[in-house]
Amino acid sequence: MNIIVTGGAGFIGSNFVFHMLNKYPDYRIICLDKLTYAGNLSTLEPVMDNPKFRFVKADICDREAVNKLFEEEHPDVVVNFAAESHVDRSIENPGIFLETNIMGTQTLMDACRKYGIKRYHQVSTDEVYGDLPLDRPDLFFTEETPIHTSSPYSSSKAGADLLVLAYHRTYGLPVTISRCSNNYGPYHFPEKLIPLMIANALADKPLPVYGEGLNVRDWLYVEDHCKAIDLIIHNGRVGEVYNVGGHNEKQNIEIVKIICKELGKPESLITHVGDRKGHDMRYAIDPTKIHNELGWLPETKFEDGIKKTIQWYLDNRDWWETIISGEYQNYYDKMYSNR
Ligand code: NAD
Ligand code: DAU
Repeated sequence: MNIIVTGGAGFIGSNFVFHMLNKYPDYRIICLDKLTYAGNLSTLEPVMDNPKFRFVKADICDREAVNKLFEEEHPDVVVNFAAESHVDRSIENPGIFLETNIMGTQTLMDACRKYGIKRYHQVSTDEVYGDLPLDRPDLFFTEETPIHTSSPYSSSKAGADLLVLAYHRTYGLPVTISRCSNNYGPYHFPEKLIPLMIANALADKPLPVYGEGLNVRDWLYVEDHCKAIDLIIHNGRVGEVYNVGGHNEKQNIEIVKIICKELGKPESLITHVGDRKGHDMRYAIDPTKIHNELGWLPETKFEDGIKKTIQWYLDNRDWWETIISGEYQNYYDKMYSNR
């Protein structure tokens, strides 16, 4: 099996590349990544010499480059992780989100139509469903929940999802979509809540919690997400959407306090800052469909996953210190100085 993994130099994509090469030594995995600020080639160093792995630097919006890769590799499956993924950046600069997340998806699917494919899998997000109120803990997102987005990021992901389903209905493209909750684990880019708080706490810097920190996210260890996608591309029904989440809801403030405790840092570092515009209150996935149809269940308990994650950041300081010492510093100052 030949699988093109787009966005494989990013957080979840790289974990997926490692998972697939480990589990299926006969598969050929081709990573296509533009190496934006969020992509890091050093992440893929451990597999660069693997004869079953190939890295190609290209933009998913570049039709010529995408077609060339299809002609060279004859992929059976495409798994599209490539995206602009950070909500705060989408609020500052929506344009690139529409280009990459929607037009890039179209470019990939056009190549799938042109050259033929067994499966196109779109990695999507629970954010396409909007948010749930804090006072209705009985409500969860199912695959039938209407699309109701809040940010330019989630709107671009929803636009892509609709296009994927349209390519299935109109052209018969064999597609699947997964909509996952918040991931955490190794190689998470330091602009996101958990790694940002770990990095700041280790430097005894303020821990910037948006608003009161009562917003709820449904955290899933990244390896569990990768296993869900693995199951869907092999056994999922074509044309279907699968929600992925582990019933692990936590308020942001709880997460930051857990990180302080694990690192032995004082909670006095916590600083409440201006809220995110349009900030979603609560995400919560109902994973019944993927459980019943494909037998998927999350395997990593949050208490273990967060410990493993913090240990990974302690053991891999080079990886994230290099990132935060570069262009990221300008981003951080711009986003947080007057918040
Ligand atoms: P990330 O920002 O860490 O990585 C994105 C990767 O895509 C980077 O390697 C980047 O270089 C690459 N990329 C960006 N634009 C590209 C382009 N035009 N062409 C080729 N490559 C490009 O993102 P992530 O957190 O790993 O998320 C991966 C996917 O999973 C995204 O589609 C995201 O919407 C989705 N998702 C993420 C989460 C989460 O909690 N992180 C949860 C659910 C779904
Ligand atoms: O739900 C899935 C989504 O999860 C993915 O689709 C996105 O790609 C991914 O980035 C993530 O989006 P969030 O906006 O939920 O993640 P983020 O880590 O940016 O923020 C998590 C929560 O923490 C959110 O309520 C905002 C808050 N936050 C975030 C940062 C960066 C803070 O309070 N302070 C911060 O500095």
